[in-house]
Amino acid sequence: MTTNRGQFGSRLGFIFAAAGSAVGLGNIWGFPTQAASNGGAAFLLVYLILAFALAYPVLMAELILGRYTHGNSVAALSGIARGPVTKVIGTSTGLLGILVASMILSFYGIVAGWMLGYTVAYPLGVLGANDAANWLTGFTIPRNLILMGIFMLMTIAIIMGGVKEGIERWSSRLMPTLIITLIALAAYVLTLEGAMTGLRVYLIPDFSKIFSSQLILSALGSAFFSLSLGVGTMLVYGSYISDKEHLPSIGAQVALIDVGIAVLAGFLILPVMYVAAERGVEIFSASGALLSEDTLILTVLPELFATMGTVGIALATAFFFLMTIAALTSSISILEVPVAFIVERFQWSRKQAALVAGGLIASLSAVIILDFERLFGAVIALSTRYGQPLLGLLLCVFVGWVWQRNTLLAELQKNDPEVANGLFWRIWPVYVRFVCPVIIAVIFYRSLV
Ligand code: PFF
Repeated sequence: MTTNRGQFGSRLGFIFAAAGSAVGLGNIWGFPTQAASNGGAAFLLVYLILAFALAYPVLMAELILGRYTHGNSVAALSGIARGPVTKVIGTSTGLLGILVASMILSFYGIVAGWMLGYTVAYPLGVLGANDAANWLTGFTIPRNLILMGIFMLMTIAIIMGGVKEGIERWSSRLMPTLIITLIALAAYVLTLEGAMTGLRVYLIPDFSKIFSSQLILSALGSAFFSLSLGVGTMLVYGSYISDKEHLPSIGAQVALIDVGIAVLAGFLILPVMYVAAERGVEIFSASGALLSEDTLILTVLPELFATMGTVGIALATAFFFLMTIAALTSSISILEVPVAFIVERFQWSRKQAALVAGGLIASLSAVIILDFERLFGAVIALSTRYGQPLLGLLLCVFVGWVWQRNTLLAELQKNDPEVANGLFWRIWPVYVRFVCPVIIAVIFYRSLV
């Protein structure tokens, strides 16, 4: 199985690719606004604890399992089964992961298409092509379909290039661009009137909020979505890592970058909102909560940019370009899950698999666009609120209970013969066996009732 498979060319290439998967629309608009409405730095603290105490162990489970089997998610999960029953469960879990991954990409592609449209619309406006700019930012079915289609084609094209020439090459170009753009935007915005109020809202902890179980559950959900867990993306990326690499430390670096960028995005988004308020833009809803999600990105920000003249156009273009990059490095990791499976299971060429899987997912996006009101929210809830935690739970059960401990240890000993005496091996197996499944089961139960 190891022959003819792709492999990341370097450790840094893997880190850019995995961090690229993790850092996405979730970090830049989900995390900061959640922090703002849930106790600022207090939320940050809860998020950090959960990311490292719960999401990191699950990330490690995916990376280790992927690297051990050097196979796609279905092959990996059925490969560690101990008998016919666990084999069926393993295969079904892998297939369910592919289904949920496809659902995530189907809504992600729509939102990413909007980001692409806004990126191009601002420069077009400057050139006088106002009709085109208005078309790109207006909410119509043809515009949604075409922009989603273009974004999906970009994703498919990168995946067709393969692990090293496609995923690694593009992630290594786009991730540094993303980090530089984010820092430059935050640095500029922090100099504007009103920014310090936003910074205070973000950084002054309000501990009265963090003891709500709702808050802890939502922080946990975002940590899970943010690290791309459950559906097999990290497992498949892990399967392309060389046996020489020390997994616990590169997994920790990926988690740190993900959390670091979410925190950094807070230094942009919160100040931006209060700069907007200073200029008369409405940033609170009728119930007094800060506006977030689609209203924030598609209403508040464009209104703010409109008050800033030429600078506003440059800022808007940079901001939506940042969002598009963040989405693209995540979407390629999602498409790789079905593609790796099709290539290995049915011996299709990578190009064919990417076209067919990408085409099917784009068709699902098209169906959502045509019945947007009913389907968009439902697909998001089904895949992220229910699908991801359930799959994460099954994954922990597999790695913690089904997989034989000595083969697991042998996998980690490949590049660290002393691992059995280290902190990671003393804590992590207990975590995946007991702590993670219990906590995830609680979140899952809570999301049902
Ligand atoms: N981690 C991405 C984000 O924060 O936007 C979203 C994501 C990517 C979720 C890949 C799931 C996945 F498999």
